[in-house]
Amino acid sequence: MNVIKLVILGIIMSVAAINALQASPIVIAHRGAPGYLPEHTLESATLAYAQGADYIEQDLVVTKDAKLIVLHDIHLETVTDVQQKFPTRQRQDGRFYALDFTLTELKSLLVHERRDEKGNQVFKDRYQGEANFQIATFEEHIELVQQLNRQFRKDTGFYIEIKSPAWHREQGVDISQLTMSLLRKYQLDDSDKAVYIQCFDFTETKRLRNELGAKVKLIQLIAENDWQESTTDYDYLKTPEGLKDISGVAQGIGPWIPQILDLEKKAPTNLVTMAHDLGLAVHPYTFRKDALPANVSTHEALDLLFNKAKIDGLFTDFTDITIDYLSQ
Ligand code: G3P
Ligand code: CA
Repeated sequence: MNVIKLVILGIIMSVAAINALQASPIVIAHRGAPGYLPEHTLESATLAYAQGADYIEQDLVVTKDAKLIVLHDIHLETVTDVQQKFPTRQRQDGRFYALDFTLTELKSLLVHERRDEKGNQVFKDRYQGEANFQIATFEEHIELVQQLNRQFRKDTGFYIEIKSPAWHREQGVDISQLTMSLLRKYQLDDSDKAVYIQCFDFTETKRLRNELGAKVKLIQLIAENDWQESTTDYDYLKTPEGLKDISGVAQGIGPWIPQILDLEKKAPTNLVTMAHDLGLAVHPYTFRKDALPANVSTHEALDLLFNKAKIDGLFTDFTDITIDYLSQ
């Protein structure tokens, strides 16, 4: 075999090796399996586990007695019957804050499918009913996943979002310190563990790494400035300089799907390429089969995300559908 053929063979093998090294995309069960069961309940997390999620997401907020609970909002009325159970416990702004209730009080609430401010279900065809779903603590979610992993010999991971750290600090609570202490209690604070911590607040992401010494993989979430999610300038974070700053403390970004893919035009933006050029993974949020543009089918949306935009993972309300697509 002459030299040229040997060189060509070498190139083919090294490309194959690089492709083989590029792990397949991870499926992140966004708030559990909310496409079927009320978000963040243990039942929803269990269903996501059974559907084969690589990671299950836990959004974290803090209770009056300093417990970490798995809840998307700092408020309670969108997903619980708090107004019926505690009709006088709202703040001046009329909102019911998880931080104003003890865990015992929160455990007395019924969790239901997400409703809007008018009390209408946000996703009409999702779970409808008043069954006895409860708010769970982060420790209960850790136990659930670790016990299932032990029995099924799997390594399903935790994808933890620290919610509104600046607001919690204004209220006298260090949610990041509480989170790191709990992860360390379960020996989960290590870069090789199946654990990500994600946050919208870039100052807090840097604090986790530089001040609190977090060893776990970190993901910088990217919002739009007009959402007022935090004081972070997301327009800056979406530039090469901003992404470079992120790469100094985090392993990836969690952008909003429209920031990486124009679903109407069916064309990717350059954000994924810019992130990949800096070695950052890209895990966008959120795939919802019941919230796609009219001209985009479920299969096409997933094809655009994984094959056109070349993402490395996806937050999905429908783990089953996402895994079915990837297994084709
Ligand atoms: O954390 C990723 C994604 O969940 C961010 O949006 O509002 O669903 O927490 P949100
Ligand atoms: Ca989240």
